Amino acid sequence: MTERPKSPLFQIAEDVVLGERVKLNPFVNLYGCRIGDDSMIGTFVEIQRDATISARCRIQSHSFICSGMTLGDDMFVGHGVIFINDRHPSTATARDGTWKLERTEVRDAASIGSGALIMCGVTIGAGATIGAGAVVLQDVAPCSVVADVPARLISR
Ligand SMILES: CC(C)(COP(=O)(O)OP(=O)(O)OC[C@H]1O[C@@H](n2cnc3c(N)ncnc32)[C@H](O)[C@@H]1OP(=O)(O)O)[C@@H](O)C(=O)NCCC(=O)NCCS
Repeated sequence: MTERPKSPLFQIAEDVVLGERVKLNPFVNLYGCRIGDDSMIGTFVEIQRDATISARCRIQSHSFICSGMTLGDDMFVGHGVIFINDRHPSTATARDGTWKLERTEVRDAASIGSGALIMCGVTIGAGATIGAGAVVLQDVAPCSVVADVPARLISR
């Protein structure tokens, strides 16, 4: 298992499961998640409870990966990518815990461009590419390229 940095610049909760040779950069905030072997987590990345990053992934700086997200092997997540898990957020449902978590799966070797926003409850197929700044509202077919707001097919 990867040794945890001792510096307070790294917020890594005890319950985080780190694989082998995980590279962590300063100012990460990780809790309750799993990070697979040989993955890299950039600076200012937050990864929440019950999120899984598999092996050999690159999560670039300033991205947010929330509870209920599963990212496959060899994933590239660009800078400032936001995942969403609550379609109808409100302070009331957050306070009383009745909000509904919708899971998202990103399959092996997909790439997500910088600034993309991934709405909850979608599946992004293996080898797919998401353009910079895209807003992904629907499933993305394997090996396809989507971009724009809302995301539309650019090529296969
Ligand atoms: C989506 C992407 C892969 C497409 O690249 P490409 O296959 O070379 O496509 P092109 O540049 O030929 O563009 C094809 C069409 O898609 C549009 N397009 C490309 N990227 C777009 C984007 N991010 N948002 C909206 N439209 C986009 C182009 O305007 C063009 O439209 P047109 O046919 O009407 O002229 C690329 O533009 C992209 O966004 N890559 C992500 C880069 C990134 O975030 N890297 C992170 C690490 S630095």
